[in-house]
Amino acid sequence: MDIVGQTIIVVGGSSGMGLEVARAALAKGAEVVIVGRSQQRLAQAVEELSGKHVRTIAADVTSEEEVSRIFESVGRFDHLFVSAASNLTYQPIRELDMEAARKTIDAKLVAALLLAKYAARTINAHGSITFISGIAAERPMPAGYLVGAVNGALFSLVYGLTVALAPVRVNAVSPGWIDTPIWDANSALAANKSATFAQMAQRLPAGRIGQPADIAHAALFLMENEFTTGTVLPVDGGHRLI
Ligand SMILES: NC(=O)c1ccc[n+]([C@@H]2O[C@H](COP(=O)([O-])OP(=O)(O)OC[C@H]3O[C@@H](n4cnc5c(N)ncnc54)[C@H](OP(=O)(O)O)[C@@H]3O)[C@@H](O)[C@H]2O)c1
Repeated sequence: MDIVGQTIIVVGGSSGMGLEVARAALAKGAEVVIVGRSQQRLAQAVEELSGKHVRTIAADVTSEEEVSRIFESVGRFDHLFVSAASNLTYQPIRELDMEAARKTIDAKLVAALLLAKYAARTINAHGSITFISGIAAERPMPAGYLVGAVNGALFSLVYGLTVALAPVRVNAVSPGWIDTPIWDANSALAANKSATFAQMAQRLPAGRIGQPADIAHAALFLMENEFTTGTVLPVDGGHRLI
């Protein structure tokens, strides 16, 4: 399937992987709607993408009302890509703040459910939904058990929604470590980012940390390949094997 002229909603399209998916889709001639909470980040992204085929919707996808508004505003569309996540909690299990834990679950799992619920009403039958899971599902760091659990739940959500929403295709990309602004949002990770990345690059079979464009390439494959559904595609430089 060629995505030229198709409408693609990119939730998380103002930064990191989502911004790169928007850029790649625009380059292929798609009409793109980018969604994020901050109007300012969305405006910056539009300037960077400098395309007349991109529009923005400011919404928090943990809110059912705001998710409903996104799909009402867009109308019929072809593909949904979801990379939005915030409030990801990495705390020692003995000290876990349950309020923070629930926010993590809301950010990646409840938001995915809400987006699937409302997308299902207006997505075209040949369309697709792609979520972003993550390596923590299979190779968690000691404080990464909750993010890992949510990412793992997304694997199962993809399998279930594939059956529930057919013929609409449902897939996920499961990234390894990718150099995006999400690392700077966590002060513990940001402090040692370059040393941590250098050490991981040495260990990875691919010999480097991933870039957002690696994920965008995989996301466009999942939108375009009409026989791929119910798939969680690892794009992790071989991280699962070390
Ligand atoms: N980077 C990695 O190494 C890595 C590895 C494995 C998995 N992942 C997963 O990859 C996904 C994307 O990460 P990224 O690295 O591209 O992150 P990022 O650069 O921080 O981008 C996140 C995007 O999501 C938006 N967003 C966050 N919360 C939102 C909400 N509640 N409603 C609407 N939009 C929201 C942000 O905009 P606003 O802040 O303005 O809302 C931003 O556009 C996440 O699910 C993450 O868990 C990342």
